[in-house]
Amino acid sequence: MKLWEGRFDKPTAPDADVFNESLSFDKKLYRADITASVAHATMLGKCNVISEEESNAIVEGLNSILSDVEEGKLEITGYEDIHSFVENVLVSRIGDAGKKLHTARSRNDQVATDFRIYVRESALQVKSAVRSLIESLLALAKDHFDDVMPGYTHLRKAQPVCVSQFFNAYAEMFLRDMDRLNHVYKEANVMPLGSGALAGTSYPVDRTITMELLGFDGMTNCSLDGVSDRDFVAEYLFACSMIMAHLSRLCEDTILYTTEEFGFIEIADAYSTGSSIMPQKKNPDIPELVRGKTGRVYGHLMGLLTTVKGIPLAYNKDLQEDKECLFDTETTVLRCVGIYAEMLKNITLKSKRMEEAAGSEFTTATDIADYLAKRGVPFRNAHAVTGKIVRHCIEQNKTFLDLTVEDYKTFSPIFEEDILSIVDARNSANSRIVTGGSSSSSARATVASIEERLKTL
Ligand code: ARG
Repeated sequence: MKLWEGRFDKPTAPDADVFNESLSFDKKLYRADITASVAHATMLGKCNVISEEESNAIVEGLNSILSDVEEGKLEITGYEDIHSFVENVLVSRIGDAGKKLHTARSRNDQVATDFRIYVRESALQVKSAVRSLIESLLALAKDHFDDVMPGYTHLRKAQPVCVSQFFNAYAEMFLRDMDRLNHVYKEANVMPLGSGALAGTSYPVDRTITMELLGFDGMTNCSLDGVSDRDFVAEYLFACSMIMAHLSRLCEDTILYTTEEFGFIEIADAYSTGSSIMPQKKNPDIPELVRGKTGRVYGHLMGLLTTVKGIPLAYNKDLQEDKECLFDTETTVLRCVGIYAEMLKNITLKSKRMEEAAGSEFTTATDIADYLAKRGVPFRNAHAVTGKIVRHCIEQNKTFLDLTVEDYKTFSPIFEEDILSIVDARNSANSRIVTGGSSSSSARATVASIEERLKTL
């Protein structure tokens, strides 16, 4: 039975029913819906809007529905949406008392409440997945304090960096994502129940009771906004989009670093794939798929923003479109973050190859310029002198390490014996001991700081 069919003479067309329904996807809200209804019925009883017996019967009936669904004894099917399903089953189980559950409530404040319960829980779930990913990154960072690699700008070798800082960089991004998810939780954790269809309710309800029963931090202050606000959904989708953006960058680096050209990383067979035609191939399908799925998550964010942009106050059915985008985002992000956290436990770093790469292509040129500048040469002049040394090396097909002190002195009399160790990649990385710098000691401090902040999130 439809909750609203009293006003209608004729039944809706079957295709209209199919188009209108949301049960096929909002059944995911069953637990939130029943929990919210239990709180609502309890509050109605306490406020004497319904009798205590009625309230108890409703709560008992709702709990029996919940356990039957969880035990697979009751299939969620046959109604317009999850709210209609629960209410109809309730009435079929407890009779007339069940018909009082919807007193002082509308599906509009009901669905907004259910969804907030769902989203706040989901934000915590995603956060815990991101935490595991950070732990995988930290494990790698801790294993490679003594290794160096080239750092890149414009995807050209720039300066040598401690390998740990590569992983720390991603851990920092994901820490911000955890922080954002905490914010999403806070945004979602406000209760709209009591807003009715749009105008609140004239029954003597006590919203504080339901708020406390449902663990909300606060309640909405304007019913028109309460039933139609979906900012928390947009915030969730944005937080997930940022996670995917960060993950996608990590994918890109992983894919590049596993190429024959870079050869910095090898993904274990367990997380690699092959080619049906080229027997030699070992493909990075997992990072490619994750990178690809990023577009899908962004699409959901754009979809929701577009859905909400033109709707007049207050509730409009457009808002039913808030769910599938969120459910798909949730599944996608959890799968992507989860598989990446595992895959990272199954990669090997080719430290020797990375170190060789860190020392080639004049990555320590800045160190030569700094050497001169620290000894009084204006940095701009030091830059020009070093540029000449680079040109000389290119012409002679040499590296900085091939030059003798005498060679250096032909470019500036300031150079001394110690320039020979300055141009070493490892020394270069380790000279940047500034907070967050490329040195091994900075990387250790960064790891310690990430671990500290992780505890607070
Ligand atoms: N399935 C609906 C949704 O998700 C529930 C609210 C229906 N409200 C209404 N006034 N038709 O938005």
